[in-house]
Amino acid sequence: EAIPQDLFAAIADLKKELNAVILAHYYQDPDLQDIADYIGDSLGLSQAAVNCQADVIVFLGVHFMAETAKILNPNKLVLLPDLDAGCSLADSCPPDRFAAFKAEHPNHLVISYINCSAEIKALSDIICTSSNAVAIVNQIPKEQPIIFAPDRNLGRYVSEQTGRELLLWDGACMVHEIFSERKLVELKLSHPQADIIAHPECEANVLRHADFIGSTTGLLKYVQKSDREEFIVVTESGVIHQMQKATPFKKFIPAPPTSNCACNECPYMRLNTLEKVYLTMKNRSPEIILDETIRQAALKPMQRMLEMSI
Ligand code: 13P
Ligand code: SF4
Repeated sequence: EAIPQDLFAAIADLKKELNAVILAHYYQDPDLQDIADYIGDSLGLSQAAVNCQADVIVFLGVHFMAETAKILNPNKLVLLPDLDAGCSLADSCPPDRFAAFKAEHPNHLVISYINCSAEIKALSDIICTSSNAVAIVNQIPKEQPIIFAPDRNLGRYVSEQTGRELLLWDGACMVHEIFSERKLVELKLSHPQADIIAHPECEANVLRHADFIGSTTGLLKYVQKSDREEFIVVTESGVIHQMQKATPFKKFIPAPPTSNCACNECPYMRLNTLEKVYLTMKNRSPEIILDETIRQAALKPMQRMLEMSI
């Protein structure tokens, strides 16, 4: 298939033709962030999907995110440039095992992090994201026992912040669990003026060095209002693109992973490319298709999250 020279122009033309909106997560390649109508964290992207007037949503992120947009917009065409853009965290929680775990704890309320499949959402009472998890748990009566899935690191952080005991599913994100505490401490010693800012999906031994912990949007807002000029960023390095755009005079250092690979880039997020975006829009495929029974069951805990996040 012929690929046009100017992909930016070709994508802009297709966007008009399809009446499409392009939603992107901060972990996408900078080029992809630059073609988006809206860039956000998981909560912001869900809210954007609810409010969107377009006929087609082109989702530049991973599968569970596009699936969430489809849960909220069953009548829109939701396109994902690469269906293999999965998520190690979502994969760490298979629905059959989770259903058995839930059945062992019938009195527990199930709060699931949005980084999970539609099947897991359908087994949950409330969905949360890294930006509203603490606030949502705080709204649940103290005597109510809670299962928190699938991220044990976010779960432990939320437990510490709320003083609540949470029954945790043992899942984790491959990007956030691989940051090296030793290298982080060394980096801080050579950059004593830098603030360490981290995502709550990181392990406890890394989070304890953080000056600020937040969702991607939380981290971006923090660097904008902070007096500091230097930051060590302990999350997927794609988020630095918007930080640098918002505050060009500040310096951002991506935190190092344990080995010398580019593990602070999410291999799933980075499967999307400009060329694939063009082909997806041209072919109106691949699209997200969901079983209607699962979609309706997954919608309820999503709606509870959106109501509890106002
Ligand atoms: P947020 O952008 O909601 O903080 O999520 C981070 C993440 O890991 C998404 O996959
Ligand atoms: Fe999943 Fe982690 Fe990649 Fe986010 S960064 S999509 S949680 S594997």
